[in-house]
Amino acid sequence: MRYASISDRLTGLGSDKWAVHMAGRQRSLAGEPMIFLSIGEPDLPPPAAVLDQAVDSLRSGRTKYSVGQGEPGALRAIAGHLSRRGGWEVLPEQVLYTAGTQHGLHVVLTTLVEAGDEVLVPDPYYATYEGLVASTGATFVPVPTLPEHNFHLRPEVLESLVTPRSRVLLLNTPSNPTGAVLSEAEIDAIGEVCERHDLWIVCDEVYADITFDAPFCSPFDRPHLRERSVSVASISKSHALPGFRAGWAAGPLELAPRITSVAEAMLFGSQPFLADAVAVALSHEHEEVLLLKRTFRERALALVDALQGSDAVKVHMPEGGMFVMPDIRPTGLTGEQFAWKLLDECGVVVMPGESFGSRGAGHIRIALTVEADVMAEACHRIRTLAEALYAAR
Ligand SMILES: Cc1ncc(COP(=O)(O)O)c(C=O)c1O
Repeated sequence: MRYASISDRLTGLGSDKWAVHMAGRQRSLAGEPMIFLSIGEPDLPPPAAVLDQAVDSLRSGRTKYSVGQGEPGALRAIAGHLSRRGGWEVLPEQVLYTAGTQHGLHVVLTTLVEAGDEVLVPDPYYATYEGLVASTGATFVPVPTLPEHNFHLRPEVLESLVTPRSRVLLLNTPSNPTGAVLSEAEIDAIGEVCERHDLWIVCDEVYADITFDAPFCSPFDRPHLRERSVSVASISKSHALPGFRAGWAAGPLELAPRITSVAEAMLFGSQPFLADAVAVALSHEHEEVLLLKRTFRERALALVDALQGSDAVKVHMPEGGMFVMPDIRPTGLTGEQFAWKLLDECGVVVMPGESFGSRGAGHIRIALTVEADVMAEACHRIRTLAEALYAAR
C-alpha cells in the first residue's frame, strides 16, 4: 500500500529518544527497584478546586460537543490570565483552546509553515520538536546554544542561520531541558532579528509559571513583537494536570480564525467539563500552584548542592522549569552512555542529553519530580558513578 510521506519523515523522531526511560519502565515492572528522574510529570497534587469543578461539570451534563475555538468561559479565563501576566489586554477572540501545548504547537506550526520553509529552534530543544516540525514538511534548523552561556540563545547566532526560507523561530522559555529563562532584554534582541527577517515567534511557555529567581518574559507581551508572536501553553505543568490535555494558543487577532480552522480539521472541539475546570484553574490563585513552584525551586537548589564541587560532573542552577542538566563530559562518556550505565549499575533513570539535540551531548537531564530524600539518594549515586569514571580515566 502507498502512504503519504509524513510517517516516513517522523520515523525515529518519536519514541527512540525515550529508550532509556522505556528500559527503566520494563525493569521496574519486572520488580527491579528504580528511581525515575526521566519524565517531566509533576508529582505534586493538582488544585483541589480545579478537580472539584471538573467533577461538578461532568455530573451536571457538561459532556456535550463544544465549539471549535473553545468554550467561551475558558477562552475568557485564558485571556484574563494572559492579560494579568503581560499587563495588557488580551481578548478571548485571540485565543484558541487546545488539547495541551503539544497540540497547540502542532496547530500553530501547521498554520504557519510547510515544505520548503525553515523553522529555527534553539538547541538543546524539547524532544518532540523535531517530529513537530517534520510533520509540517518544513525543515528543522537547530540554532546552537552553549553551556558557557547557560544555554541562552544569542541573537547573532540566530541571525547567522536565517535564510530566505526561514519563517518561524520556535522558542521555549523556561526551557526544557536547559532551564534557561530568557530576559526581556534577550527577548527584545532576539525579536529584532525576527523583525528584520519577518519571522514568526512561536513561544512554548508551558513552564511560564515555574520560574525561580528570573522573571518570565514572553515575546507576546512585548508591544513591538506581539503581532508576530504566538504564546502556547497549558495547565499540564503549572497545575500538575497533564492528563487533562488542556491548553491554549494565543496570538494576533488575524491568526485566530486560521488556527481555529486547522484545529477544527484535526479535533473538532474540546471537553466542556474540562474547559470549566481550566476556567477555575486560571481565574483564581491556588495554594497548590504556589507550592509546586516553591518545591521545584527547593529541589533544584538541593540537587545543585549535592552535585556541586565535583570534578566529574558540572552543574548549574536552572532559572526555571522542572529539570537540571548536569554536564558529565569529564567522565569521558556521552550522555547516552552515562544514562545507560546509571540505569544498569545504579537503578537511576535519567534522560541522555543527546535526546534533546546535538548541543545536549555529554549532558544528562534530571527531572525534579521526586521527594527530597529520593532525590538525595539519586544524586549520591550519580555523583559516585561520575567520580568513579573520572578517577579511572
Ligand atoms: C517544553 C515542553 N513543551 C510541551 C510539552 C507538552 O506539554 P502539554 O502536556 O501541554 O502538551 C512539554 C512536556 O513535557 C514540554 O516539556
